[in-house]
Amino acid sequence: MPLFDFRTSTIGSGTRSKITILQEHIRSFLRHMTLPRLKNLIASEKNRITGRASINSMPFFLKIESTGLCNLDCKWCTGSRRDRLPGERSAGRMTLKQFKRILDQTGKYLFRINLYGFGEPLLFPETFKMIKEASSRNIGMVISSNMNVVSDTLTEDILDCGLELLIFSCHGTTGKTVQKFMGNSADVQLALKNVENLVKERNRRKQRFPVIQWQYCVTGFNEHQMEDARATADRLGIDAIRFIKPWFPPDAGDEWYSSLFPRRSFTRSDYKAQSCSWPYRGAYISWDGGILPCCREELYPVNDFGNVLSEDFQSIWNGDRYVQSRKLIKDPDSFKPSCKTICSTCPVLGFKPTVPQWEQNSQQNT
Ligand SMILES: C[S@@+](CC[C@H](N)C(=O)[O-])C[C@H]1O[C@@H](n2cnc3c(N)ncnc32)[C@H](O)[C@@H]1O
Ligand code: SF4
Ligand code: SF4
Repeated sequence: MPLFDFRTSTIGSGTRSKITILQEHIRSFLRHMTLPRLKNLIASEKNRITGRASINSMPFFLKIESTGLCNLDCKWCTGSRRDRLPGERSAGRMTLKQFKRILDQTGKYLFRINLYGFGEPLLFPETFKMIKEASSRNIGMVISSNMNVVSDTLTEDILDCGLELLIFSCHGTTGKTVQKFMGNSADVQLALKNVENLVKERNRRKQRFPVIQWQYCVTGFNEHQMEDARATADRLGIDAIRFIKPWFPPDAGDEWYSSLFPRRSFTRSDYKAQSCSWPYRGAYISWDGGILPCCREELYPVNDFGNVLSEDFQSIWNGDRYVQSRKLIKDPDSFKPSCKTICSTCPVLGFKPTVPQWEQNSQQNT
């Protein structure tokens, strides 16, 4: 199981973009290597390969949601601005103090933090402070942003905080296609202008970071603009562009399926249990401190394995839910009805998924 799923995150990208993305990963990994991190990585992989349930290693990367609030309304995103349903996590912001508490417990072992979940990280100043703090601890910092931000200091804030990688989300090159994906408030011209200013100033300063990668979810209604996106990326000096398969429910309208990612019938092999490395290598932390093994169904606090702001990270990491999940990964047939973790409904392990309420509503409104 490779450390990075290179193939699916670069499908449809040109060779140059593929090389840039791969190089970025390898260099980042080497840049943040320390002896404790290397020892922990080896222990973690050993635990994963031998299928231990209670483990003597820590995660080596985290996804931390600095905020669950957003200014846009992407069609299939739980971070969009719709009202929350009962039982769903409210949207809010993590404080710098809370972020430091997480770093104090885990930072020694982390190569990288992806500081975004389902919300827009650039909306709030604490994001820059968090990046500065983690960078000062030699942790590689990544954010993904829609870049729909109006701020006179945006360029300087990004360039001065130590950010290593900026993923720029933009799913089209014209207002019409971008708004179909990202909602009526999306402003593609503003986003591209912000990126252009950032690249110009970064290059003027002869600064290497952040590396900027455009992430483009390909659908039937925006695939005709992929060439234009490539040309725009080149013109603006964006380092790489990757065309990815968007997630949406299988019964979404035909316009969501592209020739690159067509609708297809599921075969038996789609339901065959595979392995999963998340509960060994990383974790997902919501803005309110709720921990999940990955971002699957993060909207429901009932799925949390614990809360890092009120409990000790280690005790959650080797607590009941993590131990049960690792046992399921080792042997999905060991499932017992008393075993209730998010992994026990995960298609990756061959289980039948439940359909969350918000998703059922979206499907009805499609
Ligand atoms: C939920 S967003 C949060 C960060 C930020 N607001 C943004 O859009 O980049 C996290 C990532 O999800 C990606 N994304 C959005 N909608 C998606 C979809 N339907 N399928 C797959 N990825 C999606 C975005 O490109 C982004 O990199
Ligand atoms: S911009 Fe990002 S967080 Fe906001 S709705 Fe779109 S994908 Fe979700
Ligand atoms: S829910 Fe699925 S993908 Fe997520 S950690 Fe569990 S098995 Fe892995």
